[in-house]
Amino acid sequence: MRHLTSIHDLTDADLARFLERAGEMERDLLGMRDLLDGRIVCTAFFEPSTRTRLSFETAAQRLGAGVIGFADPATTSSSKGETLEDTIRMLNAYADLIVMRHPKEGAAKRAAAISTVPVVNAGDGPGEHPTQTLLDLYTMQKEREALAGLRVALVGDLKFGRTVHSLVPALRRVRATPVAVAAPGLDLPKELAAGVARSTLEEAAATCDVLYVTRVQKERFADAAEYEAVKGAFVVDAALLQRTKSRAIVMHPLPRVDEISADLDGLPAAKYFDQARNGVPVRMAVLATLLGA
Ligand code: CP
Repeated sequence: MRHLTSIHDLTDADLARFLERAGEMERDLLGMRDLLDGRIVCTAFFEPSTRTRLSFETAAQRLGAGVIGFADPATTSSSKGETLEDTIRMLNAYADLIVMRHPKEGAAKRAAAISTVPVVNAGDGPGEHPTQTLLDLYTMQKEREALAGLRVALVGDLKFGRTVHSLVPALRRVRATPVAVAAPGLDLPKELAAGVARSTLEEAAATCDVLYVTRVQKERFADAAEYEAVKGAFVVDAALLQRTKSRAIVMHPLPRVDEISADLDGLPAAKYFDQARNGVPVRMAVLATLLGA
C-alpha cells in the first residue's frame, strides 16, 4: 500500500493490522515520539474540517513529525488558478506525506497518480473518507469487541455522505451487516446499495447494534429548497434510545447539526465524541504505516 485514497486500497489484512496498530498507539500515546522524527506531514485542506485535519496534525506531532499545510485554499496559489496537479508537485518538494481534503470526488486519486509521496484521502467531495472508516471500525470494535455479526444502521444522507461510502464496503468485509435508513431522496448510490436492506428508523433502532447517524450534507445540494425539505428527516434522541436494542450505541462522524439531540450527549450509548477522539491513534497508525515506520 502506497497511498490511501479509498477503502478499496486496503486488503482485509491491512484493515485488521490498522485496527491492531491503532490499539498499540492508543496504549502508548505519549511514547511514540521517535517514530517519525525528522519527517514532515502536509495537511492540504481545500474544504473545512475540524476533526480530520486537527487529529491528523495531532497524530503527526505525537509521532514526532513536523506539520505544514493549509486549512483554507484561499490562502494558497490555487486561488490564482494553480492546478491541483501543480500544487501536489510543490507539496512533494516539501513533505514526506500529504493528507488531502478536496471538494471534488476523485481528487485524491488524481493527486496520488502523480505524487511521489503517499497521499491520504481525508475526504473527496461526496466520494470517500477511508480514515474515518478506520476510526469508525476501531470505535465499534472497542465498544462491542467483535465486528463480525454487528448490525449497523446507516441513518441520514447516504447519497452524499462520504463516510458511509467507505463504511459500507468495510462493514461487509468484516462480516457486519449494514442497514440503510436513508432520508428521502438520499439513498445509497446504486453500486453500494445492492444487497443492503432498507429500514425505517424505528425498526432499525429496535434491531441494530449501532445507529450510525449522518448529517444531511448541505454543501452538496445545488438547490437550497431541496436541502430544506429533507434536513430534518431524522432526529435521534433520548426517547428513541428507549426503544433500541440492549447495548446499542449511537455514532456520528460529526459535525452534527440537529440530527442527534443534545439530550443524548451524557448517556452511555452516545459514543460520537469518543469516536472522534479515536481519530488520533487511528491516524497515528495510518501515518506510521504509510511512512514505513
Ligand atoms: N468527521 C469529519 O470528517 O469531521 P471534519 O469535517 O470536522 O473533519
